[in-house]
Amino acid sequence: MSGPRGEASGGAIAMRRAAVAVVVFVVLAAALFWLDPADLYLWVKALHVIAVIAWMAGMLYLPRLFVYHADVPVGSPQSETFKVMERRLLRAIVNPAMIVSWVLGLWLAWSGFGLMGGWLHVKIVLVLALSAVHGYLSRAVRLFADDRNSHPARHWRIVNEVPTVLMIGIVILVVVKPF
Ligand code: HEM
Repeated sequence: MSGPRGEASGGAIAMRRAAVAVVVFVVLAAALFWLDPADLYLWVKALHVIAVIAWMAGMLYLPRLFVYHADVPVGSPQSETFKVMERRLLRAIVNPAMIVSWVLGLWLAWSGFGLMGGWLHVKIVLVLALSAVHGYLSRAVRLFADDRNSHPARHWRIVNEVPTVLMIGIVILVVVKPF
């Protein structure tokens, strides 16, 4: 569909689909805990990795959208389209994925490791830093929505690298567990 009405209803459908996906995911996780299979830990870890992939996808895509958004004139049709894309990405994917990553990650840390281990503590510090970047990006979505972004595209290009670097550190820590 095209035009503002088609765009709006297409967006509403996309939001509903994303909401259904979140509900299905949460029901699946609840069912797992209720069924309590012998390999519950591995199932939870699989769901954790899926949530983390969704979170990272958004954390890498949002600043990329800002790079293009910063270069289009305020009030232009492109700018309004970017606002819609940014808001939906944040609400439908990035926010729910972060919550699920944290809840399942903390459960793994508690049930598998009793919250102990140098690698785990440093991983949590890096994930806290990633969550701070998340907060920064979600504030930027609000500023762009109000046409109050004051940063050039170059700034967003640099911000784009931060989640990448944090992700590399987090994955090495959890897989290699060097200390
Ligand atoms: C939100 C806070 C988080 C906590 C408390 C947490 C904690 C954990 C724990 C305890 C495990 C199980 C490790 C094992 O069984 O050996 C795990 C697995 C994993 N986590 Fe996280 N995590 C968090 C967020 C993240 C993030 C943001 C990423 C990636 C950017 C990530 C990537 C992974 C991966 C790839 C695994 C699977 C590792 C493996 O099976 O070898 N986690 N996490």
